[in-house]
Amino acid sequence: MKPIPRDKALDSTLALLREAYNFIPNRCGRLRTDMFETRLMGQKVICVSGEAGAAMFYQPDRFTRKHALPPTALLLLQDLGSVQLLDGEAHRRRKQMFMALMRPERIGSLTQMFAEQWHQRLRQWESAEQVVLHHEMEQLLCKSVCEWTGLSLTDAALEQRTREFSAMIDGAGAVGPRSWRGMRLRSRTEDWIRSVIMMIRAGHMQVPDDSAAQIIALHRDADGELLDNAVAAVELINILRPTVAVARYITFAALALHRYPDVRARLLSAQSREDDYLGWFVQEVRRFYPFFPAVGGRVREEFTWRGLHFAQGTWVLLDIYGTNHDPHLWKDPQTFRPERFRDWNASPHNFIPQGDGDFDLGHRCAGEWLTIELVKTATRLLLFSMDYDVPAQDLRIDMSRMPAIPESRFVISQVRHVFSTAEPVMEAESGLMGSQAAQGMESGRSGQEW
Ligand code: HEM
Repeated sequence: MKPIPRDKALDSTLALLREAYNFIPNRCGRLRTDMFETRLMGQKVICVSGEAGAAMFYQPDRFTRKHALPPTALLLLQDLGSVQLLDGEAHRRRKQMFMALMRPERIGSLTQMFAEQWHQRLRQWESAEQVVLHHEMEQLLCKSVCEWTGLSLTDAALEQRTREFSAMIDGAGAVGPRSWRGMRLRSRTEDWIRSVIMMIRAGHMQVPDDSAAQIIALHRDADGELLDNAVAAVELINILRPTVAVARYITFAALALHRYPDVRARLLSAQSREDDYLGWFVQEVRRFYPFFPAVGGRVREEFTWRGLHFAQGTWVLLDIYGTNHDPHLWKDPQTFRPERFRDWNASPHNFIPQGDGDFDLGHRCAGEWLTIELVKTATRLLLFSMDYDVPAQDLRIDMSRMPAIPESRFVISQVRHVFSTAEPVMEAESGLMGSQAAQGMESGRSGQEW
């Protein structure tokens, strides 16, 4: 077996911060490999990319997430005590609690609440000069998921909580002020949710029996004990925060509708409400646009792969963004083309925006189905419930910023509520396409057309 290629730099931490989503793909390209060794934060790490690497990484029980993420990213994302940091039987038991919340009828009730909130909010958008879609989506998702979870918020509280979740998400991939702000605001959310858990347990706060707040507050791990108050709060936040983060995919979906008029026209066509195209569109949004660059793990028990010995504790990073753009797996990976999912082989290892493998046995994202349904719902609402213009703005996506987002956060104007129940094709003919086309500033910083 050939030795594993090495990145020549003594330490590549600064290069990682600079190149972000392209850090692993750049080195795989340069070294002509799908696996290489480098040093980050003074430690040796093996980076893997592609289908074989994903299959290796997501073997149940092979990797722990403990000590596999920079501490600030960990605290802002899953946090100490969370399901992601558990292994083996303890992980499976806790994961069941999450997956029980993701049954189709429960996902349906959240998407319905979200659509209702959207329709209410449309009236305000109609009278506003401009609407920053990403901020609005964060707020709508925050309100919907809090209600779905059993928590209701006043308008002032909604603004504050949205700001906190947004700061946690935005700070997760950063070093410095963005990260510090996320940490500062996270502690306020934690105080709030800890008090919610305490009040539910003491019977001072009534929430529906099947709500996430009730289920988490009363969940018992394998030892038969209730979760520690702080851990229960972490897990409830692990439902709320990532649901608010779905706003990024919705913003990217709106950007794709704007950038690719053919795709938009196909979605608006009469049959698209029934056919699979909407589903392919949402998959392509999750494949094409940058969100999680990579996921890290440390070897639990030594194993050998491709003749290479992975000792216990070895640090490995799996390239999420690069695998979703791997030219060996995806023809013309930098082209936005939903149809590619018609022929997709549904391998669990080649399309990994929210992780890979088995939901119950591994660390694959518990909220993947919910994410897909929320983005589908939002896309339908953007297409069939409203008309809007996209004024000139900076739509570039900085690929060195984690997590990425269009610079302008996608601004829309001249919002009009579409009440008609006419065939979608009529709406396309009503001038919607014309008002959307050919506006906005062009091209991403990396030279890629977004
Ligand atoms: C917004 C889009 C989302 C993205 C890009 C995303 C991405 C991911 C990724 C890549 C992982 C796997 C980490 C690993 O292998 O260690 C993960 C895990 C997880 N996600 Fe998501 N996620 C999203 C939305 C959600 C939502 C909506 C929820 C819940 C409502 C959620 C809850 C979780 C949980 C609980 C885990 C830990 C699972 C485990 O360790 O078993 N995520 N997510």
